[in-house]
Amino acid sequence: MSNAPLRVLVTGASRGIGEEIAIQLLDAGHSVALTARTASDLEAIVAGRTNKNLTIPADVTDPKSAETAISKVISAWGGIDVLILNAGDGSAAPIEKTTDAIWDHSIAINLTAPFQYLRAAVPAMKEAKFGRVIVIASTAGLEGEANVSAYTAAKHGVVGLVKSAAAELTKYGITVNAVCPSYVDTPMTKRSLEAAAARTGKDFNEVKAALEAKLPGGRFLTPQEVASAAIAFIDKPNITGQAEVLKGE
Ligand SMILES: NC(=O)c1ccc[n+]([C@@H]2O[C@H](COP(=O)([O-])OP(=O)(O)OC[C@H]3O[C@@H](n4cnc5c(N)ncnc54)[C@H](OP(=O)(O)O)[C@@H]3O)[C@@H](O)[C@H]2O)c1
Repeated sequence: MSNAPLRVLVTGASRGIGEEIAIQLLDAGHSVALTARTASDLEAIVAGRTNKNLTIPADVTDPKSAETAISKVISAWGGIDVLILNAGDGSAAPIEKTTDAIWDHSIAINLTAPFQYLRAAVPAMKEAKFGRVIVIASTAGLEGEANVSAYTAAKHGVVGLVKSAAAELTKYGITVNAVCPSYVDTPMTKRSLEAAAARTGKDFNEVKAALEAKLPGGRFLTPQEVASAAIAFIDKPNITGQAEVLKGE
């Protein structure tokens, strides 16, 4: 990873993949701003750490949150070098049970929020002629599975955003890439498995084992694997517009 300290903002940094990304970057000596809705979770992560950090409690689906969070980073540190757009969420439902609320939330958190954070950071990155934007998308951004139409549509959308932004921003020294993991061992996956167990009346471990058996690598990815793949884009100045698939094979 880059040795020069970078100024980084990570959304959804309080648990799962985002927490792991924030910790790896803090441990590497970078200045990291962490956002999520739950302030106490963010504070627990930075407690005892001596390198520069900011905790910015924010709901990324609030249209004002992007401008506010990016402004706080720029005011504190004079710029922003790396933006990691990780906050996201999904719930399973067949199409006829996908309410407008499910659809709107999925688009808001997985697609509109990354767009708004990118839009807010681009002026400072263009001025600096340097930027790294990394989106945690999903294999659902490239493939279709049953019963996740809202999440799949939103993640396909964010992969499109990555590709267009990459083409537009490359001349300013800004790269924009996505990682597209299959299932990862995080609280989000646990929630999905609990919901599937409740829906089918099956045991949690049975549902988990059945899902793992269907995966190409026969296992969930770890948050560490996804974090490392995302962070690796920081040191790849000539790679942009990529959607890197991670399946644990
Ligand atoms: N888990 C998987 O299998 C998997 C697979 C492929 C892709 N992904 C993607 O990877 C990303 C991270 O997933 P994860 O599994 O690590 O999720 P997670 O365990 O549910 O963690 C989500 C993080 O985002 C924050 N968050 C949730 N809603 C938010 C909101 N409205 N505003 C701001 N922050 C919010 C949460 O903190 P608060 O609740 O305190 O806000 C938490 O820090 C998501 O984009 C997800 O779609 C996950």
